[in-house]
Amino acid sequence: MIRKIQHIGVAVRKLDDAIPFYRDVLGLELAGIEEVAEQKIRAAVFRVGESTIEVMESTSPDGPVGKFLDKNGEGIHHLCFMVDDAAAALSRAKEKGARLIDETPRVGVHGMRIGFLHPKSTFGVLTEFAQEGDGHQ
Ligand code: CO
Repeated sequence: MIRKIQHIGVAVRKLDDAIPFYRDVLGLELAGIEEVAEQKIRAAVFRVGESTIEVMESTSPDGPVGKFLDKNGEGIHHLCFMVDDAAAALSRAKEKGARLIDETPRVGVHGMRIGFLHPKSTFGVLTEFAQEGDGHQ
């Protein structure tokens, strides 16, 4: 059901300050920069083999990443698993006792269908499921 780690989400205060580290120091390929209005973020996606790292800045202090930065500072924000069917993965997790943030999938970076499990029921790691959407490149 889970096929791979799709991406790791990293929260930073200023995307433009963080990009040179991933691109120049680590030498990763920058696949693109995208704003996701619904999540109030701007994200740079770096390819790491079959997975990516999504480096995110908040576009609004009241967004989820803005609140995370206030509380925790910069750092790893979430772990995302690729699944064949995000809706099925969410309902299965709920059935098995996990608390959901998203009862049904919504649209994330690259048009993927995504949904989050609450970190209180995942031992502190905000966990995301992602299914490739129609807009995926
Ligand atoms: Co994500």
